[in-house]
Amino acid sequence: MESTAIAHANIALVKYWGKRDYRLNLPAVGSISMSLQELYTKTHILFDSNLDKDHLIIGHEAAAENQRVRVSKFLDLVRSISGIGYFAMVKTENNFPTGAGLASSASGFAALAVAACAALNLNLSGKELSILARQGSGSAARSIFGGFVEMKKGIEPDGSDCFAEKIAEANQWDLHMLIAITSEKEKSVGSTEGMKISEKTSPYYQNWIASSDEDIRACREAILKKDFSLLSEVAERSCLKMHALAMSSQPALIYWNDITLKLIHLIRGMRKNGIPVFFTIDAGPQVKAVCEADYVEHVRKNIVEIESVKKVIHTTIGQDARVI
Ligand code: DP6
Repeated sequence: MESTAIAHANIALVKYWGKRDYRLNLPAVGSISMSLQELYTKTHILFDSNLDKDHLIIGHEAAAENQRVRVSKFLDLVRSISGIGYFAMVKTENNFPTGAGLASSASGFAALAVAACAALNLNLSGKELSILARQGSGSAARSIFGGFVEMKKGIEPDGSDCFAEKIAEANQWDLHMLIAITSEKEKSVGSTEGMKISEKTSPYYQNWIASSDEDIRACREAILKKDFSLLSEVAERSCLKMHALAMSSQPALIYWNDITLKLIHLIRGMRKNGIPVFFTIDAGPQVKAVCEADYVEHVRKNIVEIESVKKVIHTTIGQDARVI
């Protein structure tokens, strides 16, 4: 009863921030992401009747107890679906630097969902896998699929209509992403905690919810029509709204550093000068620049000219999560 799976990280173009239910991890808004080919998690799982608890190894080290417990709770869901009660040995590694401030929970829980279900011979559909992965981490629901992916917020209290779906295959549009690492420190307030604070305290929260369906609609249209200018507009708008929510929370959540802001201005400046490129930023200080293949070198050259950018990771659009 063992299996190995790979799932790619993803970056949201229309952001998820806020939940309608914490127990089932149901998002308050839909989101749209692109899968990242060069960034992935590989996870091996072995269910074994001789184990007396779940074990989690990240890289080559035993994970912190809170991470092990989070994974163990997730495996309880898989155990209850399968009716097989064995504990598991989970070995997982990210091919991207940990501590680079890139979220690994999306690719992590997607790879774990696929590997665990394969090990227990559970034949779940993509939709069912996505519903399962969502309960590990909201963004993980999107990492089940490659290409361009939409997460539906759904309306059902049981979360049965809250899953991700592929909008378009990876080859729909040859978009590239350059991830500028501006700091290698761990983020101060994680997404789950940050969302709770924003829901309770940001005066902008209701407007964030109210304006999200239009962002989803516009982003879907931009992807299907390959309209770069529309995609730039909606992605930057969604990103800045999310950060406005975070910044207007009490206590204020400021995920940016000075280099983040420099990169925002650099990218907007390039676009003003006719280079089709836009930025997006998650709950951390790294800046992701998105452009078509022809502009990658130009954009990279400009980014690395900013002193203090520690590293740039280049990635194309990724594939579905899969057993290997
Ligand atoms: C800013 O998926 O990490 O990256 O569901 O609580 O695990 P939980 O949150 P998580 O949040 C991701 C937030 C984001 C935006 C996004 O990916 O949509």
